[in-house]
Amino acid sequence: MSRTAALIIAKQVRSKPASVLGLATGSTPLGTYKELVRMHAKEGLDFSEVRTFNLDEYFRLNPSHPQSYHTFMFENLFNRMNLKPGNIAIPDGMAENVEGFCMDYELRIRLAGGLDLQLLGIGRDGHIGFNEPGSSLGSRTRLKTLAEETVRDNARFFGGKKEVPRLAITMGVGTIMEARKLVMLASGVGKADAVKRSIEGPITAQVTASALQLHPSVTVVVDEEAASTLRHRRYYAYVEKMAEEYEAEVGI
Ligand code: GLP
Repeated sequence: MSRTAALIIAKQVRSKPASVLGLATGSTPLGTYKELVRMHAKEGLDFSEVRTFNLDEYFRLNPSHPQSYHTFMFENLFNRMNLKPGNIAIPDGMAENVEGFCMDYELRIRLAGGLDLQLLGIGRDGHIGFNEPGSSLGSRTRLKTLAEETVRDNARFFGGKKEVPRLAITMGVGTIMEARKLVMLASGVGKADAVKRSIEGPITAQVTASALQLHPSVTVVVDEEAASTLRHRRYYAYVEKMAEEYEAEVGI
């Protein structure tokens, strides 16, 4: 899963060195970041012109906190790649004027030319970024209250539920949907239900990842466990095989 996702990102950056990437946190993309770091070290994958915008950050959590998404991104990717510090953007959970910050974040994405590729994980409640059930499918970057299930899921990183921030700044579903390409990752049986509801269920604000069904260019990369309850999984595997054969035939 990680290798497939890293190859998609590497292909994007190789074809457009000044790509604007939307990045995600969580345990799921860790392997992908590791693989990108390896490709940078061993295969010369160059991020010197790449610009990045992260999906989200906890509200009022200091960027230097070990569990902040700032720390996560620098430890797992930015410190190990050749990005220019000025080309990295992560929502500022400490911003005084939150609304102003969020509007500015949207503007900065637009001024950068829009997101070429947005990487996504998925929460067990079907959220993307921190767009919890009920988030408008047209929502923009804003302050969001975390759902009880998300607080519980993230408690393992904070050493207890009490320590988990209850609010976060997140790109909205509308912001995410404007990216030219979306790549969503999911692994493990714990995500199977969320994956099934996103891909094969109705489009609903109750499962914000289901909005991806409306996007013209989405790749969902899953392992066997996360795909285990998909009704049409054999067909999806067949489609992938056919696409590979076609690519080999026409040489793309
Ligand atoms: C958090 C993040 C999401 C991420 C989700 C799943 O809620 N805001 O972007 O997709 O966690 O995390 P994990 O990959 O650890 O399961």
